[in-house]
Amino acid sequence: MESQRFDLISSEFKSAPHKTYQRMRDEGDVIRARIPIIGKVWVCTTHQACSEMLKDQELFVREPARAGKRSVAWFLNWLPRRVRELSDNMMSYDGEQHRRLRGLVDKAFQRQSVSVLQPRLTALASDFVEELPQHTDDSGVVDLIPHFARPFPLEVISELLGLPESDRTQFANWGNRLATVRSLPTMLAAGGGLWKLRKYLAQQIEECRQNPRPGLLSDLVHVEQDGHRLSSKELIAMAFLLLVAGHETTVHLITGAILTFLKEPEQKAQLMNNWDLATSAVDETLRYVSPIEMSKGRFVVRDVEWHGKPLKRGQTIMAMIGSANHDPARFPDPETFDISRSPNLHLSFGSGIHTCLGMQLARAEAATALQQLFTAYPDLQLADPEGPVPWTKRLGIRTLSNLNVRLKSSEN
Ligand code: HEM
Repeated sequence: MESQRFDLISSEFKSAPHKTYQRMRDEGDVIRARIPIIGKVWVCTTHQACSEMLKDQELFVREPARAGKRSVAWFLNWLPRRVRELSDNMMSYDGEQHRRLRGLVDKAFQRQSVSVLQPRLTALASDFVEELPQHTDDSGVVDLIPHFARPFPLEVISELLGLPESDRTQFANWGNRLATVRSLPTMLAAGGGLWKLRKYLAQQIEECRQNPRPGLLSDLVHVEQDGHRLSSKELIAMAFLLLVAGHETTVHLITGAILTFLKEPEQKAQLMNNWDLATSAVDETLRYVSPIEMSKGRFVVRDVEWHGKPLKRGQTIMAMIGSANHDPARFPDPETFDISRSPNLHLSFGSGIHTCLGMQLARAEAATALQQLFTAYPDLQLADPEGPVPWTKRLGIRTLSNLNVRLKSSEN
């Protein structure tokens, strides 16, 4: 079957993804596409097809063996085994193994547990916001990514895990190399960072074993479930997943949200008049920006005709989350940013058994970040409001390389 090429890392795509999404949906609700780095895959383009696919555990799985395949991705073979094992986490399993791993941490991320954290989230965000004037350059410009949007969620997840404060900048740097992966050399460089991060987490786990301490990591080391403890390998992979998934995506949600509100002053005014709209505003940002553009791949379990397409056992299928979130059949005026949109059943946190574990935490962090920042600097503005938006060319994630702002209006 003919596949169509979609350049999902081009500047054209990154500056106006909804145009490509429209083109994809025009081709069909399930299409054969060629995507950079990944290659040929089936892509679900509509809200309906994406949500059906993500929920169908019988036909679509994460474990390659269940679909008659040996390995997940060719490029992982270039990494040392110990680094590869980091991806051996709940996201890579279906069925019982997934349930067991997720069951160990589910409670810590439920709405109730997150609401207990709210005062701490507010205090942390407020500290970072207060320090921003110290980071402005001579022309009064500050980049909000390194001084707010990244350290804030990193601090939150590190505290939750119980990792020592003194180590944070260091492990953030190791993890950040992942953001630069575009080719084999950059992947090997990222592999070096991952190696160090893995070693660090293994050390922390060993220290928790000797001396229990407050935090989720120590709890996991000592937890017994059905008489079994997590193996060391499982513990390291779990800590890695929580640390990386727990801050990286949130950085892009926070930056995407700040950028969008600065470009939509009426919506910003509406939010600042009524902070009860914060959660709904964050959900609309999740839909409108779609920080995760597509789901991880699933494997087709058996040959089947699905949405009129001949899917074959072992083929890969993905949900184009950004396209689902801009599907006019589900969202009236999808290109309008409307913080009071209701219902707003976006797919930014996925769906089915792998629905994002950290969604309540991410929502609370983003709402807190917006409230603290906009309340402290009501006149905040983009440093170059007319200039091009510096979207990066990362596959599958909508990220900015900087978010340069002025804290005060230049007219003041
Ligand atoms: C804006 C923030 C976030 C976004 C947009 C996001 C998005 C997603 C998506 C789309 C998935 C499903 C992927 C798929 O099915 O292929 C997912 C899974 C996951 N997310 Fe998030 N996430 C965010 C924040 C977080 C945070 C704060 C955590 C904290 C721990 C987290 C932990 C996870 C985990 C562990 C999974 C795998 C769940 C499973 O396999 O059962 N995420 N996330």
